[in-house]
Amino acid sequence: MRYFIHISPIFTKSSLEELGGITSFSLVDNVLSAAIVDAEDERLQDRVRDSIFTYCAFPLYLTADLGTGSYLEVVLGAVDGLGIGKSRRLKLECIDINEKEGYSAKDIEVATGERLEGLGYNINIKDPEVLAYVVLMNGKCYSGYSDYSKLDKKFVNPMRHYQSKKQVSRAELKIWQAFDEFGISAGGTAIDLGAAPGGWSTFLAKRGFKVVAIDNGDLDYKAISAQGLRPLAVGIEKEIDAAALFESTDIVHVKGGFDDAKRLLRMGNADMLTDDMNIFCSDTAIAVESYLDLLKKDAKVIVTVKCLSKKAPNYIERARTMLGRRLEIERIKVLPANRQEFTVLASPRA
Ligand SMILES: C[S@@+](CC[C@H](N)C(=O)[O-])C[C@H]1O[C@@H](n2cnc3c(N)ncnc32)[C@H](O)[C@@H]1O
Repeated sequence: MRYFIHISPIFTKSSLEELGGITSFSLVDNVLSAAIVDAEDERLQDRVRDSIFTYCAFPLYLTADLGTGSYLEVVLGAVDGLGIGKSRRLKLECIDINEKEGYSAKDIEVATGERLEGLGYNINIKDPEVLAYVVLMNGKCYSGYSDYSKLDKKFVNPMRHYQSKKQVSRAELKIWQAFDEFGISAGGTAIDLGAAPGGWSTFLAKRGFKVVAIDNGDLDYKAISAQGLRPLAVGIEKEIDAAALFESTDIVHVKGGFDDAKRLLRMGNADMLTDDMNIFCSDTAIAVESYLDLLKKDAKVIVTVKCLSKKAPNYIERARTMLGRRLEIERIKVLPANRQEFTVLASPRA
């Protein structure tokens, strides 16, 4: 079986090495963020779920040469040739890796969707039964399809999905992806370390959390307010009663370093601690540990850990040791929006 897999563009080598530990495969082609592989493993989609570097795998059934005809004709043939029943509600996604022909992936989807409708297909992007996808990469056109209801990830190209809504900062994509990937449910109170300009805090507040956002820098109060949220900045001159402030505020921004903020912060135990400070792993572990007494026993901790080189496995090992001193590490994942870093899901050790 041939697969399209979405891998980390920064840690391509580690991604492919890890995949080799999951299944035996031969590499058909790859670019930084994606690879086409042949593997006998029919369950590869499920097996990459717990991997660190591979975000998703989608089966491909046809391969065509893009050079043999008109671009859009090849794409149309690649979908039509899949043998998907015309009565089935079909959504099409196109991933154009090289974008050489001057069409955007969206243009190709629209043009091909219209042609498919002309051929009698039942195109339905709101409530699909089947997701058909076309991957255009290095002169080849790969196509495949999956049963939409059984798909864990509904988009073959995750970045397109996650860019579709307004964000306060690009970093917001990371917490959104972490929530989806780790299946986190909403609600309660959260402490967000290294919060500025406020993407994560905004995301958390929109998911129903009351948030204490900690950062020496300013949040983008205007952008946060434009999303219907009520931010409030407080200094670090005196005690901060977050529980009281939450009555009229969604995001309490404590404007100071995480250590000063911890000294002054008073609140009931929180359901979540997030940390996107982007500092050394050893300092991250110290920061997270210093807040553990403000967390509930079953709280979730989401932390990004920076890698100073592309040797991610070394940093992952270090994070397991350092964060593992006081935390139970549940998952480690390089999310599509992570740059030279990975995301850790953990909970306080009993
Ligand atoms: C990558 S940014 C965070 C982006 C944020 N998660 C968002 O979604 O907009 C890292 C932030 O960590 C903050 N930071 C670094 N060291 C810190 C410290 N010791 N205490 C508080 N904040 C710190 C920086 O000021 C910076 O704003």
